[in-house]
Amino acid sequence: MTIQFNDETFRDDYSFHNSAWAIKRFPFPFHEDSYMYAVNMEQHRGGPEGSVYEKRFDVDEHYVAEMRDRAMVLADDPLRCQSLPHMTLAGWDLLELIMVSKSEDYPDLFELHRDGDTWRWVNKPLGIDDTFTFLDETTLPYGPMEYITRQAQGDFCVLDQRDEMLWMDAGMVTTQADWSLDFDIGMNFFEWHAPVPLAHEMGIFKRALKFLLNIQQGAPARRLNWTMTVNPLLDTSPENYHKWGIQKTSLTPENIGSKQHLRVELQTFFRLPRSNALVFPIRCYLCSFQDLMTMPKWGRRLHRVVRDLPVELATYKGFIDNRPMMLDYLSQFDDGQPTSPGV
Ligand code: HEM
Repeated sequence: MTIQFNDETFRDDYSFHNSAWAIKRFPFPFHEDSYMYAVNMEQHRGGPEGSVYEKRFDVDEHYVAEMRDRAMVLADDPLRCQSLPHMTLAGWDLLELIMVSKSEDYPDLFELHRDGDTWRWVNKPLGIDDTFTFLDETTLPYGPMEYITRQAQGDFCVLDQRDEMLWMDAGMVTTQADWSLDFDIGMNFFEWHAPVPLAHEMGIFKRALKFLLNIQQGAPARRLNWTMTVNPLLDTSPENYHKWGIQKTSLTPENIGSKQHLRVELQTFFRLPRSNALVFPIRCYLCSFQDLMTMPKWGRRLHRVVRDLPVELATYKGFIDNRPMMLDYLSQFDDGQPTSPGV
């Protein structure tokens, strides 16, 4: 196999770590020294070789550990995966999209053999070799969306499109930045975005929705979003806030470099063929401050972005209280030199 999978955890002893390769390809989200919400959408048609944008669904060294963590979250709370009855066909569409993409993009790790409706799926990293009948739920151990998203990094929202609107009618959400599928299920695009500050007034969601409604099959799109997480936690859900919220108070000037993580979401958008649903995979990448600081340009820039971020955004993203300590740490890496545009 081409990828060495890390043996690591995203809880308890937090043994999660990034290799030098993973740091180098980390999707640092800031193109300039300041940040504000925007409709930052672009095509998702294969990116530079080795980058997280290269493949349709990036598989990296965290794959096996992330899937183990997902299984633990689901064992504690099955409501992290929900699919309203009319979304089963979209689940099959998603299963097909992921199986075809992964088997084409990573032939050494995944194989898909199709003989009419009889499909054999081989997932070598997870040791799975299953044969099932496409579109027959009784031949899989879970519903199609749950089956395939237990084998795919990142969260997945599957949106039904009707009445010129998107509806959060299915999803697998175990690695989210403080929002709840169980709360949002059945909501529309404006309703589930209601808590976001400033963006509604800026007209961002109206424009974003128009763009999304017109996404065509075979022409996926993507954008980046980001927040901050203390400790390399994947599951920062409201359901478990009592477990991770308190950890934000454990930050000290001595441990901030290793404990504070920039959390970047690579969000992609694919139109699904039979159901006309839209799938929204949200892939989470974590990188500690100390690892980020190995790239001098990132150090300078992160300091300026965090320093100048509007209070509303720092509050919504949950780091307003720790911002002064972050700035003390980050300012050491900002020599005041100008940074060139681009990442
Ligand atoms: C935040 C879902 C597309 C912009 C959120 C939240 C959810 C979400 C659940 C958290 C809201 C909360 O606090 O409870 C989705 C889904 C999308 C989608 C399912 C696909 C259909 C977009 C697009 C944009 C966007 C296309 C483009 C501008 C934002 C922004 C935030 C947000 C700016 C706040 C993020 C932050 O500051 O960390 N989204 N979103 N979303 N969304 Fe979306």
